[in-house]
Amino acid sequence: MDGHDDRRLDVLITAEELAVRVAEMARQTAEAIECRETIAVVALKGGLIFASDLVRHLPDLRALDFVQARSYGAQTAPSGEVRIVRDVETPVAGKDVLLIDDILDTGNTSATLLDHLRAQGARTVELVTLLDKPSRRQVPVEPLAVGFEVPDVFVVGYGMDFAERYRHLPYIASLEAGEDRAKT
Ligand code: IMP
Ligand code: MG
Repeated sequence: MDGHDDRRLDVLITAEELAVRVAEMARQTAEAIECRETIAVVALKGGLIFASDLVRHLPDLRALDFVQARSYGAQTAPSGEVRIVRDVETPVAGKDVLLIDDILDTGNTSATLLDHLRAQGARTVELVTLLDKPSRRQVPVEPLAVGFEVPDVFVVGYGMDFAERYRHLPYIASLEAGEDRAKT
């Protein structure tokens, strides 16, 4: 036992619900942006699975690239310090950019990435995020599309991890600590 095995997963959003909502988000996105002129930028690692489903509904996108940010400090106590550890390779100066991210929590990560892309001279920068935890927001961010609002619980699956576990799950679940399980 590695100490994680007593954590309980409670499904919050099923694979079927994700598929329906992601298709709706793609329609909403396609109406709002000019796909042919747009470079989609996936925020690794959490945005990977959401983005791979979303972009397959957006075949007109001009290009697909990746960026990775790392937030320093405990997951539950945001430090506000976000560093870009992997940058886009596609020049974005003068281009329209669509950032695809997994979750807006404090907003620090997405805000830093959006600022970073703007600083490289992108003509427009928009965000689509699968999840939003509005109760935790510290930095204002206005996404073009949000998949689901979630309460202030730690979620995993469909790209999102706890200590690199659970990213591959096809659904989104809340992660409960082992102590909680013992009480219930
Ligand atoms: P923020 O900078 O506080 O908005 O946090 C954004 C990043 O923290 C996300 O892109 C995720 O990688 C991670 N994160 C925030 N909340 C959760 C969660 O509930 N589960 C998994 N990862 C999370
Ligand atoms: Mg992320």
